[in-house]
Amino acid sequence: MYHAHVDSWWLLIVLFLITYFLLRAGKDKGAKILHMIVRLFYIVMIFSGVVLLFNWNFAIAYVIKAILAIVLIYAMEMILVRTKKGTLGSKAPMYWGLFVVTLVVVILLGMRIITF
Ligand code: HEM
Repeated sequence: MYHAHVDSWWLLIVLFLITYFLLRAGKDKGAKILHMIVRLFYIVMIFSGVVLLFNWNFAIAYVIKAILAIVLIYAMEMILVRTKKGTLGSKAPMYWGLFVVTLVVVILLGMRIITF
């Protein structure tokens, strides 16, 4: 489970970015398939993350990391869905800001660079 989590997270971010740029380029068919794969990776990350949380007996730093990871997944999903619908507009800075901040903090907490 540790490897499923650690080996998947960067792939999820890369696939998310590719899906975003495909949507921006109007390549809807490719984007649709990739978006489905991105959603599959959400499930992989959440499932493997919950298993790791049990291994860590719900250590508080990882519980906070998990909550922020869910916010990160929300930000990614909103960016993709709103880009597709053309309704990202003025909300773009908010969702991209949320994406960057939660991603950085999630990585720092996950890698124990931030500990408490
Ligand atoms: C998109 C979402 C997520 C990303 C990008 C992410 C990223 C990461 C990263 C970078 C690490 C450190 C890996 C390493 O040691 O090299 C990690 C570890 C961890 N993640 Fe996640 N994660 C996500 C979702 C979740 C979720 C939803 C949970 C819990 C429900 C979770 C729980 C954990 C735990 C407990 C660890 C510590 C693993 C260990 O060191 O044994 N993660 N995650």
